[in-house]
Amino acid sequence: MESIYGIHMEALLRNQEQLLSGIEKIRMEEKARTGEDPVEHCLSRIKSEESMREKCRRKGLPETTESAVHIIHDAIGIRIVCPLISNIYLMRDAILALPGVVLEEEKDYIRHAKPNGYRSCHIILRLEDGYFAEIQLRTISMDTWAALEHQVKYKKELGENVELIVSELKRCADELASTDLSMQTIHDMIHGEAPVL
Ligand code: GTP
Ligand code: MG
Repeated sequence: MESIYGIHMEALLRNQEQLLSGIEKIRMEEKARTGEDPVEHCLSRIKSEESMREKCRRKGLPETTESAVHIIHDAIGIRIVCPLISNIYLMRDAILALPGVVLEEEKDYIRHAKPNGYRSCHIILRLEDGYFAEIQLRTISMDTWAALEHQVKYKKELGENVELIVSELKRCADELASTDLSMQTIHDMIHGEAPVL
């Protein structure tokens, strides 16, 4: 079967590389400016053939190149994991200032957490030549939580524990969010950016 990305695979890879080097440049500049790397780690992928086809079906879209490249916006996906919440918004702003990048859509699940406790800032970028990329920005704790919560979706036989698991996950998410805020405050106090109480 021909790839759902048709003739676009090379261009998707090129756009992905370009974004990654933009992100790398922002990190270097920030390290030079503050002595701190705003990114703990960064992952990137082109959505697999299989999950792109599955997503088309889930969204009621035909399994075509048009759907995969232009209607669905996360063929290119980048996840940026940061030590602190302030790093997330610094990276967000700097990415939106990169040449050839336009903000298509933003979902700030940090300011507005999902009911299950999911937190991350998602930005959809419109790139040159009409390609799109989804960037997920989160702290290390948000990332750890999302990985654990993700397992719930794929584990079918949770049985009678499911309600407890869901509510404990929610509790953890809220505790982690509170700890992220405390760590931000401590960081800012260390660096003289907030009054020591
Ligand atoms: P799809 O989920 O991709 O159909 O798109 P959407 O319109 O729901 O977009 P959204 O920005 O909400 O989610 C995009 C991606 O964020 C998902 O594919 C996951 O990687 C991640 N994500 C969103 N919500 C959750 C969540 O509740 N738990 C976890 N673990 N990840 C989530
Ligand atoms: Mg979703």
